[in-house]
Amino acid sequence: MRKLLIFSEDEKVNKLIRDYLKVEYTFDSDIFTDLEAAKENISAECYDLIISFERITDAEGRSIEAAKALLNTVIDNDLETNFVVLGDLDVVFGNLHKIAPGFKLDFLAREVINILGVTREEIAYIKKPDYISVPIENFYQLNEPCCDIFIRISKKSGDQFVKRINQGDDIDKESIKKYQSMNLEEFFIPKDSYDELMAQILTQSVKKLVDAHKKGESIMEVSSDTFEISQNVLDEIGISAQTVMVAKMSIKSMMKTISSSTTMSSLLKDIIQNETSYSFKRSYLVSLFFYQVLPNLGWGRGDQLQQNLEKVTFISFFHDAFLRDEKLLKIMTKKQMDESDLTDEEIVLINEHANKASTVVQGVPQCPAGIDVIIRQHHGSTNGMGLPNNYTTSISPMAIAFIVLEDFVTRILEKLENREKLNLKEILKGMEEDYRLPSYIKIIEHLRNVSMS
Ligand SMILES: [Fe+2]
Repeated sequence: MRKLLIFSEDEKVNKLIRDYLKVEYTFDSDIFTDLEAAKENISAECYDLIISFERITDAEGRSIEAAKALLNTVIDNDLETNFVVLGDLDVVFGNLHKIAPGFKLDFLAREVINILGVTREEIAYIKKPDYISVPIENFYQLNEPCCDIFIRISKKSGDQFVKRINQGDDIDKESIKKYQSMNLEEFFIPKDSYDELMAQILTQSVKKLVDAHKKGESIMEVSSDTFEISQNVLDEIGISAQTVMVAKMSIKSMMKTISSSTTMSSLLKDIIQNETSYSFKRSYLVSLFFYQVLPNLGWGRGDQLQQNLEKVTFISFFHDAFLRDEKLLKIMTKKQMDESDLTDEEIVLINEHANKASTVVQGVPQCPAGIDVIIRQHHGSTNGMGLPNNYTTSISPMAIAFIVLEDFVTRILEKLENREKLNLKEILKGMEEDYRLPSYIKIIEHLRNVSMS
């Protein structure tokens, strides 16, 4: 923790500077209006920085060169303390910095940060709130958390954070769901423990996924939980070695079930009947149907087919990673967006999500080549902005296939949600009326030939 000394003849000015530096950057400062007391403290304490007005007027009305007197104390004591003079001082000294009168507080703070060599990362950390919110779903696969877990209670006097789960407690999905049933949507983690907890969540998620595959049990549910956790974490902390590892693990798990020898109808049943999130269901089903039509698209067989499946699964995983709300995921056209009651912020998010996801994918090491382009085009525009009114042929063939497949799957999920009878042929017929271009209709034809055995 850095410590500062602030000196001026005006207590109010001292407090203003001290409070600004405390609130904005958590720096602690001792403040003085008495020159002798300030000199004594400089000798006795170890300050990182002294801020002093150049001169003051004493009780008899004499002008005193205060900064020079304090600087002499620094030099006499052989200290290497940094020194900022507010005003002009005709002295050259290694650690001396001058700020002209009439400065603004934010300018002074920036100078202080530069002088003290505070890094961008440190500032980002300082600016973080003391407790960081984490969506409750992220705790589904966590046991024995490495830190205490809190809930927030909002009061008129400000937020209060109350401990709900102790470090090392034996928690599981069941216990977390109990909190969820009380309408709790997020937990709060002390910022000092946040990174460690995130790492623990990701590590445990991967372990659960590996175990589920080994045992052949509850793969869909664990897979869906991991899918959600990795997308949440990607949205919150961005690309890191760990988020990439979990994302890839989640993709691998999806691929493994899709390309297993199990029949299409049993895979469909599995995903529909299991307790999985909407975004997982849709991404999984898009990959599943893609896998069925891929051999007929003339994009290769054998290894190439496997590579294309990998591509598609990556695209399915990342394409809507920034839409964490089911309501937003269901908005697929400009018309639906115009007719919705979305906030301006939500509209911006929808309009930009394809482009944002495409940029994120560019930062993921060893992603299949070219998937950023398909992700950018997954709503039909070449720049990844907005939702379509009409479709064009000026996008990649894989993006065209993805658009048709996602539409198909969205319609399936809508039927299931409305508890309507699921008739795939009828859905495809309805789609034919909405697509006029041959390259899109061709995909509908391929879907019609998918064997549902
Ligand atoms: Fe999308």
